[in-house]
Amino acid sequence: MDIIIKNLIQNELERQRHGIELIASENFASLDVIQTMGSILTNKYAEGYPGKRYYGGCEVVDEVENLAISRLKQIFNVEYANVQPHSGAQANAAVLSAVLKPHDIFLGLDLSMGGHLTHGSPVNFSGKLYQPIQYTVHKDSGLINYEELETKALQNKPKLIICGASAYSRDWDYERIRKVADQINALVMADIAHPAGLIAKNLLNSPFQHCHIVTSTTHKTLRGPRGGIIMMQKDFPNPFGLTDLKGNLKMMSQIIDLAVFPGTQGGPLEHIIASKAVAFQEVLDESFTSYAHNIIQNAQMMAKELKHLGYEIVSNGTDNHLMLIDLRNKNITGKQAEIALGHAGITVNKNMVPYDDKSAFTTSGIRIGVPAITSRGLKVNNMHCIVDFINEALKNHNDLNYLKMLKDRVAKFMESFPLYPNL
Ligand SMILES: Cc1ncc(COP(=O)(O)O)c(C=O)c1O
Repeated sequence: MDIIIKNLIQNELERQRHGIELIASENFASLDVIQTMGSILTNKYAEGYPGKRYYGGCEVVDEVENLAISRLKQIFNVEYANVQPHSGAQANAAVLSAVLKPHDIFLGLDLSMGGHLTHGSPVNFSGKLYQPIQYTVHKDSGLINYEELETKALQNKPKLIICGASAYSRDWDYERIRKVADQINALVMADIAHPAGLIAKNLLNSPFQHCHIVTSTTHKTLRGPRGGIIMMQKDFPNPFGLTDLKGNLKMMSQIIDLAVFPGTQGGPLEHIIASKAVAFQEVLDESFTSYAHNIIQNAQMMAKELKHLGYEIVSNGTDNHLMLIDLRNKNITGKQAEIALGHAGITVNKNMVPYDDKSAFTTSGIRIGVPAITSRGLKVNNMHCIVDFINEALKNHNDLNYLKMLKDRVAKFMESFPLYPNL
């Protein structure tokens, strides 16, 4: 193997082993998931869908893709699933291109309030090709401003309402959003990239009976390979409102399939699809239920411990796997916090808090998530120690020697939670 890359992979493995990984969108996929990604399936071109390919020799990858689809349908009890999107952003690009025409209006949560780039940011295709109207969270509570969402929807009559977020620690009222959408014949898309693994185990509200289309990534709480998926429920409670998209699930499935390929992608990554199938089987396993429970318990305990130390948590807590810490009362920016924690072997990302007075580059906050440390086996009684490390690093953020010493303590602590011992 390429010795330079081999060494870099080893360095990254050591970094992952010794650190405390708190990036909310990251996880540690199983070795089975990882090894399947590195399989010879990468050699195969398979443009099209199972049974309808543009290349010969697809009989095996057809089975692989059908298996991934059927397992995904089983997890969420849905009628339609597309497992080809290369990423979450690709899944969203496909859906937007399927249900909107250029310049059409849609509604999404503002990026600076916790939304995602693909929900209408001006620097993203979603903000350039279409006309996004953005809703926000309440300044005082940090909760989604559903009243504003409704007012903006009734005023602007978007064709699509997107719900879901990258940095929102509370559950969503999908039913309420659907009621708004029905008044203006809009479609609703839920992007569950972050909480999908918790929704899979019924620990959060299900979007499926209310939202026409659901997208997700597969590498966050679902703990699979890096990738995207698109799903739809058995049938829609109400017929489609859009006059040019009137129809049933079958028609909509065809539209979405075509939007993925050939609309926005070329050949599917069958090695990744195989790895998705492996991850989906793991999600179906009973052990994933306790994993998902542990995630929520860990996140809630971490929020509680942080609050004890005077940290402000946006929305005052969490329902899911993540939280946003507003550091303004601690006199440190998100950027400084990210760097200091990094020196101590604790990985987080700086994040704007709602109504932030600082730029996205500096930020007043950090986002913290527990899916990765929960995969390493950390339990609720370990959260006190993690919060202590975080607090020590932030309090001593100007003292590089102290942070270096803390990094050794962190590494020692994490030795009790082995990562990929067979590698
Ligand atoms: C809500 C949401 N949607 C979509 C994405 C995009 O996923 P990807 O990075 O796989 O393109 C993310 C990634 O962070 C996300 O948080």
